[in-house]
Amino acid sequence: MHLLSIDSLSDDQIATILAEAQLWFDCNRQPSRNDRRLDGLTVVNAFFENSTRTLVSFAIAAQRLGAQVVTLPVEASSVKKGETLEDTARTLGAMQPDVMVIRHGSTGAPAEVAAVAGCPVINAGDGTGEHPTQALLDAATLQRHFGRVAGLTVAICGDIKHSRVARSNAKLLRRLGAEVRLAGPPQLMPDGASALVVDEAIEGADAVMMLRVQRERLEDELGDSPGEFLELYGLTAERLARAAPGAVVMHPGPINRGVEIDGALADGERSLILTQVEMGVAVRMACLDLLTASRRGA
Ligand code: CP
Repeated sequence: MHLLSIDSLSDDQIATILAEAQLWFDCNRQPSRNDRRLDGLTVVNAFFENSTRTLVSFAIAAQRLGAQVVTLPVEASSVKKGETLEDTARTLGAMQPDVMVIRHGSTGAPAEVAAVAGCPVINAGDGTGEHPTQALLDAATLQRHFGRVAGLTVAICGDIKHSRVARSNAKLLRRLGAEVRLAGPPQLMPDGASALVVDEAIEGADAVMMLRVQRERLEDELGDSPGEFLELYGLTAERLARAAPGAVVMHPGPINRGVEIDGALADGERSLILTQVEMGVAVRMACLDLLTASRRGA
């Protein structure tokens, strides 16, 4: 089994991951953690694109369950000598890891790796494709805060066009019964999608998830200055006042403070951003448990 997309998971598997993540979240706050169910297994992290949260949380998740973690140092690897992704995947697979976690700038790269790896592959974010474990941790964070996902209204705002987070979240949150509203500047909406005005999307929403403006994937689409972007499309206190009473603020990170979100809101009492990060470890523990179950005979 691979975890390449939210579509890779059955409803039962999603429910199992979300339920188990809540247990790991509590367990991770305890001083003694001694569940070593992945003892003897090896997890390879191969991140061809930068990451802080996903890379480190997968490493912590695997180690907390007793696995060995090896991180491919991409910049110092034979990738830099021109080795293809497929040859790199075959090479890593020949070392008999038990899971490969792949982040790549090309959409579909984790699926290419999965075709030759010989072990379960997890998509840790591929180009403008998907980021399934981010969506799972976002859903688990909402579930922890509200006690449910079904019936919530979630506004996802910003650079929808380039966002794998938005794509995975829209799939998952809708499957779980939430209303998902996508909004952003017209030039940052997917081709053919109608652009909901950010103010309309936030109106009455239970959660406002702001997306990072992906400067590395933008060419000339963003003509506005950072301050103008915040004023026109970003999350300000005035905009958040339109949301439901008790609405929460979310962001997958990293944040461009003063661009898509006022920094004070990111740090404010309605922000779940650091809960999302903490939940990232718990969700990835649940995913590693699920994907290695058959190898462990569990
Ligand atoms: N949310 C997320 O994927 O963050 P990183 O790029 O730091 O992993």
